[in-house]
Amino acid sequence: MPGSVRDKIVIQGGGRLKGRVNISGAKNAALPIIAACILTQGTSRIKGIPRQLTDVKLMEELLCFLGLQVNHSGEGVLEICTEKENLVTAPYELVNEMRGSICVLGPLLGSRGKAKVALPGGCVIGQRPIDLHIKGLQTLGAEISFKDGYVVAKADRLKGAEIYLGGAYGSTVLGTCNIMMAATLAEGTTVIESAACEPEVQDLANFLIQAGAKISGVGTNRLIIEGVKELHSVDYQIIPDRIEAGTFMAAAAITRGDVVLENVRLDHLGAVMEKFRDIGVEITQELWGCSVKGGDNILSTSITTLPYPGLPTDMQPQLMSLLSIAQGTSVITEKVFPDRFMHIAELNRMGASIRKEGPSAIVNGVSHLSGAQVTASDLRAGAALVLAGLVAKGTTEISGLHYLDRGYESLEAKFAQLGARIERVQEEV
Ligand code: EPZ
Repeated sequence: MPGSVRDKIVIQGGGRLKGRVNISGAKNAALPIIAACILTQGTSRIKGIPRQLTDVKLMEELLCFLGLQVNHSGEGVLEICTEKENLVTAPYELVNEMRGSICVLGPLLGSRGKAKVALPGGCVIGQRPIDLHIKGLQTLGAEISFKDGYVVAKADRLKGAEIYLGGAYGSTVLGTCNIMMAATLAEGTTVIESAACEPEVQDLANFLIQAGAKISGVGTNRLIIEGVKELHSVDYQIIPDRIEAGTFMAAAAITRGDVVLENVRLDHLGAVMEKFRDIGVEITQELWGCSVKGGDNILSTSITTLPYPGLPTDMQPQLMSLLSIAQGTSVITEKVFPDRFMHIAELNRMGASIRKEGPSAIVNGVSHLSGAQVTASDLRAGAALVLAGLVAKGTTEISGLHYLDRGYESLEAKFAQLGARIERVQEEV
């Protein structure tokens, strides 16, 4: 639209990153844990919330829409309590903005006996179906119908059951969150087979246990939830963001830099660290984080993304950027979101040599990338383009920053603090 402005990131490539950077709280733990407050009585205090993220702001807005009060008491601290319990609709304009909103479905059904949640749209990384969420809730006894693009669910009292949550692409992270939350207040015991066990799912389970839920098998693919009468408020600190940490590890590697990451749980990054070591990156544990030293040579490797504890799909685009200047040819196979390759085209416009072959990308390492004007197609693709810009010869301009702002707090400021020549500017469109 003429006369309007938009933000873009401008990077002068070259230079090695050096210094210390603090990793924010995990977006994908914050979202379901904020939603879980629908289940609890009283006021919960949640610390370590990455409050600048648009996804978190949208989840806060959604909770207010559902009759909860959300107050900010200090840096990254949310106080959440329920005021009205008769609101059960999550509207299209909020859910369409952020698919993660679907994780209010389980807590609404579990605590208020009904829910009307807009069906989340698809996105560039895939269709984002919710059939496993629906199957699980129906197995717990919910009556579910679809009307005008909404999921309409009701249940006087959910009843515990055995549920298998495995799909064609493994388990479902938010599906496991939804079923686990609904089951905490159901009558009797629920067993979730083929549950997701990502650290963010474990963090949600630990929050619920502190609220009085009876959950065992946390961290495994088999969760057992014994229904209780009610859940009370909790004082809770969420885990650090392992994907942000992995993104900064890739940044240190691609610039052959030497960076210390603070607020990192290396036990959440086993497969990621293993892969970085294969590529020639040196990672050593520090007291509350780690130091990451990029090797002089970036070694090619093969990558297959898998559900946790496998290599996370949310690190795939960032690793592709790194491998685009590796010595030799790498193969990246995407087993969680087979269509998650929109970033190939933009990286090739920067001089990379990548081609898609079925569920894999063949990455022929090139000597260098060249700066260009590029556009982020989704959150992690945007991060991949920033990494490419840090090492490209010349200037890279990245638009589509609304995707980045969903999942990274002050990304350009954090990189500038490490010595990158990066700034966020406004441009006329
Ligand atoms: C969560 O999405 C994360 N989002 C995603 O992170 C992450 O990529 C994904 O898990 C996988 O780890 C949040 O936690 C907010 P899934 P989710 O259900 O739960 C299929 C980011 O960058 N599937 O585990 O929506 C699905 O199509 C975002 O932070 C079904 O078939 O993902 C996919 O192929 C991107 N039926 C696979 O399972 C269902 O009912 C995994 O999806 C549900 C999912």
